[in-house]
Amino acid sequence: MNIKKVGVLGCGLMGSGIAQVAATAGFETVVLEQEQRFLDKGFAGIDKSLSRLVERGVEKGGITAEQKAATLARLKGTTSMKDLADCDIVIEAIIENAVEKRKTYAQLDMIVKKDAIFATNTSSICVAELMTATDRPERFVGLHFFNPVPMMKLVEVVRTIATAPDVFDTAVAFGEKLGKVPVRTVDKPGFIVNRLLVPYLLDAIRAYEEGVGSIADIDESMKLGCGYPMGPFTLLDFVGLDTTYYITHVMYDEFKERRFAAPPLLKRLVLAGWYGRKTGKGFYDYTDPKNPVPGKFV
Ligand code: CAA
Ligand code: NAD
Repeated sequence: MNIKKVGVLGCGLMGSGIAQVAATAGFETVVLEQEQRFLDKGFAGIDKSLSRLVERGVEKGGITAEQKAATLARLKGTTSMKDLADCDIVIEAIIENAVEKRKTYAQLDMIVKKDAIFATNTSSICVAELMTATDRPERFVGLHFFNPVPMMKLVEVVRTIATAPDVFDTAVAFGEKLGKVPVRTVDKPGFIVNRLLVPYLLDAIRAYEEGVGSIADIDESMKLGCGYPMGPFTLLDFVGLDTTYYITHVMYDEFKERRFAAPPLLKRLVLAGWYGRKTGKGFYDYTDPKNPVPGKFV
């Protein structure tokens, strides 16, 4: 199947990055959001990211100013699902909530051409649970990107029990055309990375609750001791505590093991609306984004 036009559902942290990468790779790309203000926010993030890549310069893996302009020319935002009707692939990156995703897929299924592939960027939800909201289970895959999408090379390509082999191969080839390294996996909770990463991030919160160290010290220890680019609390704020919280419920429901359960502190920060970078406060306070201040919760 020849993919020419890409649809992206959601222009938040991930949807904006996915749309940017698809447009940079040369695909005509349309991004759907619920409201214009969310599109405006997402496109501002895309512009900032592209400018950072222009500043980096091509020799350091960045792009030229002309490539930035060409990328923006291929990108269109919309609040009307009808604009996705002729897309060859639709990549969904909306809230990590199975009910919301299923409702949206049911609508998409009636509007988007029958031979289009549907690809979910879900972090943890059973892909089969989403495909059954459509009449195209054999044309449904997981395409799990990593944050920030313009910088992270991996894309997990998830095959369900129903995915047709040629559709799966098309999705892998599409990942390569985006400049990513596709890794093939199956429809198990958390796929590969989050199956390993989520327990680590939750254990960091539990270790903090147990008093092993401050938020800054735990972050610094994992950066200096293990060479991680971000400590766990910085990464949690980067991913979003809301999304992390949704992921813990999905994975705990599947495994029923404590290591996937949301620590009490995570629940309280989410209930307070402290989602991390995206709301200006999480485990750190980002009033001054250049100098995040770690919180003290225990
Ligand atoms: N767009 C464009 N350029 C960006 C960028 C973006 N979004 N983010 C960073 N950069 C560029 C910067 O401009 C900078 O370029 P220069 O060196 O020319 O200044 C370079 O990348 C390095 O950026 P920073 O100096 O800000 O910091 P850094 O060296 O730490 O790199 C990072 C930033 C790539 C995000 C790095 O911190 C990192 O890899 N962090 C870990 C991210 C991670 O673990 N992601 C996975 C999360 S889990 C997930 O996504 C799955 C899920 O389902 C939850
Ligand atoms: P986000 O909150 O930043 O963005 C979600 C966007 O979806 C919002 O802008 C919201 O307005 C929009 N949205 C919600 N319902 C919609 C609908 N019905 N139609 C159109 N748009 C709608 O969340 P995010 O971090 O980008 O996560 C999105 C998805 O990507 C989730 O499934 C998440 O698990 C997954 N994911 C997240 C990360 C991460 O690090 N945050 C990494 C990989 C995968």
